[in-house]
Amino acid sequence: MKKTFYITTPIYYPSASLHVGHALTTVMADAASRYKRMNDYEVFFLTGSDEHGQKIERSAKEKNMDPKPYVDDIVEGFVDLWEKLDISYDDFIRTTEDRHKETVHYIFKKIYDKGDIYKSVYEGKYCTPCETFFTERQLDEGKCPDCGREVETIKEESYFFKMSKYEKALLTYIEENPDFIQPQSRKNEMVNFIKQGLEDLCVSRTTFSWGIPVPIEEGHVIYVWFDALTNYISALGYGQKDHERFDTFWPADVHLVGKDIVRFHTIIWPIILMAAEIELPKKVYGHGWLLLDSGKMSKSKGNVVDPKILIDKYGADVIRYFLLREIPAGQDGIYSEEALVTRYNVDLANDYGNLVSRTVAMVHKYFDGELPAPVQTTEIDADLQKTAQQVYQKTTEAFEKLDFSSGFAEIWKVVNRANKYIDETAPWILAKNEEDRERLGTVLYQLVEAIRVITVMITPGMPNIIKKVQEQIPYDFINAKWQDASVWGALEPGTKLIKGGTLFPRIDLKTLDIPEEEPETVTLKEDISYDDFAKLDLRVVKITKAEKVEKADKLLKLEVELGSETRTVVSGVAAFYETDQLVGKNVILVANLKPAKIRGIMSQGMILAASLEKDADLEVISLSKEFPSATIVN
Ligand code: ME8
Ligand code: MG
Repeated sequence: MKKTFYITTPIYYPSASLHVGHALTTVMADAASRYKRMNDYEVFFLTGSDEHGQKIERSAKEKNMDPKPYVDDIVEGFVDLWEKLDISYDDFIRTTEDRHKETVHYIFKKIYDKGDIYKSVYEGKYCTPCETFFTERQLDEGKCPDCGREVETIKEESYFFKMSKYEKALLTYIEENPDFIQPQSRKNEMVNFIKQGLEDLCVSRTTFSWGIPVPIEEGHVIYVWFDALTNYISALGYGQKDHERFDTFWPADVHLVGKDIVRFHTIIWPIILMAAEIELPKKVYGHGWLLLDSGKMSKSKGNVVDPKILIDKYGADVIRYFLLREIPAGQDGIYSEEALVTRYNVDLANDYGNLVSRTVAMVHKYFDGELPAPVQTTEIDADLQKTAQQVYQKTTEAFEKLDFSSGFAEIWKVVNRANKYIDETAPWILAKNEEDRERLGTVLYQLVEAIRVITVMITPGMPNIIKKVQEQIPYDFINAKWQDASVWGALEPGTKLIKGGTLFPRIDLKTLDIPEEEPETVTLKEDISYDDFAKLDLRVVKITKAEKVEKADKLLKLEVELGSETRTVVSGVAAFYETDQLVGKNVILVANLKPAKIRGIMSQGMILAASLEKDADLEVISLSKEFPSATIVN
């Protein structure tokens, strides 16, 4: 039997077109799928659309449309984008499809019959853009703690899901399956969250109708996240007549998601599965965000970059390469078109593209296009070959972990080694002496072989360009196996190479029409008088100690020196600093802020920091010169 691999992307909301942030997740999932297929896995790659809920109902209303034709339009755009980006998904699930509804009904009923869903009244807050319930206590200064937007107060009769009952079982599962939540940092975050106690989850709504009806009572629709998460098994036929796919592919090998929705996938989803007595997925991988200089790209902020425009301008492979290469595993990465063009010019045009065209041109010039045989190898050849083999190992390890950024960085080590090999061997000089002819032939063979190995390894990321390489170097890249990159010497001497066009013509940044990012209009708070300002007592203080606050992964407990006094300040900077990075810094303290208790610790003042929306980035304001402690700032 073939080994199987089941990978999913989130099903995106058709509340607007997708942007390049969504493309990041989907391209990663596609590269993983292609990589696994090259390793002889039977892959099932699922993507789709999350079409119900209040947010979609409202977006449709704003356009004066019924929800269904509204989502039909937008979802067509999703499918079109994935086609343009060469996304090789095996199925596209829409939550408005009958097959999906059937599974959602089945699972809801199953959990209800078991007694884990009960009726009560929900009273609390709701963030519609995030489709999430919050208690008053969870809010961040009255706003949604996830996206920072306004929340609504709702009170309605609804069905509740006994999440609390499964708290211990979930913690045990996470403990016993250390790879379940990746990367590790997200796991710690989730464990802390669960340990603070899980509340039962509201799983139905009555104040709007755009959703899957609750099977046991009219007037209720199923909560959109309960509906959406179920896509991962509805697409496999769970609870339907034909469930062969479910039997073959479940449990999923990886649910690939952005870090914004790790919580839903590692708490709500596993508990739904536990309650329904279904095996849990093997892994949830939460990648970082694609940021713009101005913060997180998001539909509602209107600062999105349309991937279709980029594809038309640069081609799918280039966008794919950029996304895979530029965003470090698990971390956030910054998007800018300049960075994209730079990657293109340096990595693709200059390093890889030139290597191919120079090499093919030399085989033509010196051997009439016929690949010579390697007969006279030296130490440099061995070194090139060794680099290729080490890179193959490391790239394999990286791709297995979905760390495409490190994987591609590795591959480029062979590209660079091969370019250096050209300089070291100087074929144009060898060509001058008839007695160096065998050596010249060997050098060119090694180069073409290096290109072959590199090209096999870039296939999961750039499935198009390999076709163009294949037109010049007749090797079956399209059907290559991953292991083909582990051997050296697979090309037949005598193979006829064909001169072709430049793979990646250089782009002149200056001639590019790159739209400037619109600076945001800034809305300021109301004016204050100088006297108002003078009420603030801002002082320079030195941080002398920093430690983590237990069970609060955003907070650090700092000690600062204010003259002869030592003060304790609790500060929300833990995600951005290691404790020892802060000690010794001269920072600015709001010294006369009323002390307040935070997590049981009395915080005496506040330290100034610049921060981007919702934890995207933060820097504590610090002075580069030494000042006496308690120096006044004004
Ligand atoms: O959350 N950087 O859908 P959604 C990186 N329907 N990734 C980004 C991104 C960015 N700036 N912006 C979006 C939903 N993403 C639910 C999912 S699943 C059962 C239901 C990606 O349209 C990332 O994968 O808001 C993120 O998790 C997802 O899009 C959110 O898409
Ligand atoms: Mg979202």
